[in-house]
Amino acid sequence: MKLTYNKSRVSEEEIVTIGEQLSSYAEHLKEVLQHGYEDEESSINLPSDKELMESVGAAVRDKNTTSLKYILVIGIGGSNLGTKAIYDALYGHFDILEPSRMPKMIFLDTTNPAFLAHLESFFDKEITNEEEVVINVISKGGSTTETVVNAELALGMLRKKYAGIMNRLVVTTDFGSLLWKIAEEKDITRLSIPEKVGGRYSVLSAVGLFPLAKAGVNVTSLLSGALEMRERCLSLDIGKNPAMASAAALFINYRRGKTINDNFIFHPELESLGKWYRQLLGESIGKEHNREGEVVHIGITPTISIGSTDLHSVGQLYLGGPEDKLTTFISAEYDKRGSVVTPEVFAGVLSGVAGKKPADVAEAILKGVKIAYEKKGLPFMEALLPDITPASLGAFMQFKMMEMMYLGQLFNVNPFDQPNVELYKIETKNILNS
Ligand code: PA5
Repeated sequence: MKLTYNKSRVSEEEIVTIGEQLSSYAEHLKEVLQHGYEDEESSINLPSDKELMESVGAAVRDKNTTSLKYILVIGIGGSNLGTKAIYDALYGHFDILEPSRMPKMIFLDTTNPAFLAHLESFFDKEITNEEEVVINVISKGGSTTETVVNAELALGMLRKKYAGIMNRLVVTTDFGSLLWKIAEEKDITRLSIPEKVGGRYSVLSAVGLFPLAKAGVNVTSLLSGALEMRERCLSLDIGKNPAMASAAALFINYRRGKTINDNFIFHPELESLGKWYRQLLGESIGKEHNREGEVVHIGITPTISIGSTDLHSVGQLYLGGPEDKLTTFISAEYDKRGSVVTPEVFAGVLSGVAGKKPADVAEAILKGVKIAYEKKGLPFMEALLPDITPASLGAFMQFKMMEMMYLGQLFNVNPFDQPNVELYKIETKNILNS
């Protein structure tokens, strides 16, 4: 992945100053690699954890069947967004066009009555025996309302028909959570999440690895992409460290009133990757208090836009409205397959497209947008992936998770907690218990 930030309206001096400020933290991150899962940044140890791969591999083999059709992923927030990001990028976005490709993932996060009703009739029609399904219930804390409710309902639907369905269930949670204890009592297959690895940093743990491996994603490549990126993001030289440089551009722009980071993604299949990042940035940096406990009400608001769809919806706002955004254009080298446009039916309607491939048109639009942003003086960065493969996705996600750690330093907030999210969880539980 290549990060370009020379259009972010941040000077080289400013970048260098931030690099100096963050170098001791980069040293600290290197030390974290020696400490296993002791530190709050310990998610950076996941890509090189051999035991993790072994435990995930054993669970994958244990649930192996030749007739697997559906992987039901039950979890929310950090427990499913990363898995969905990778699945959608590689397969999910194309599911409707490839009905016979199996297995497919079904994500159950909100307690949406309509979706659950459809799911029940879908199970009745599509599943003929329990070996066609694997259910993965994922909850770090183990007692998230939506996840527990959805797990009970989905298992209730399947247990009516299949006596052995509990053998198709895997629970991924913190070792020792109530969910873990109950799964242990009932002899349900369990995978653990290291205590210090928070939900939104957990995609490269069993949380993401198990369902993705079951779906046929090459998780070894995913991890090797992440590992390679981890090395780059530990560099003390900010010019060679994309996580540090991107954090610097976001921070400096924030101080200049660019409180929104629009992630303008020019591949629709990466929309879920954008949503994964939205949680990562929103929850990690959006804080009421700083590390000293002072009230700061700080945060960058992450937005996701899809090119070129959203040029036809919010392009006007972005190019003409308030100048409150730093944009990150996210794209990958375009797939050059596909037929060329041969104007016949609508010949004469549009010039310049004859003989062009879809990739040529998509590239022209992206280039056109960047020129328009430049002419308007709107700051932007660019993250260019070489392709959309497990290795590139692993690298991108590792880059963003480490960017967040550097941003936490710059904003002087804890990027690993989410105390205010707990407020609604407590209120919901109070209402349900009243
Ligand atoms: O990142 C986070 O910590 C949150 O988004 C959680 O992942 C989310 O609230 C779900 O929690 P749990 O995994 O405990 O069910």
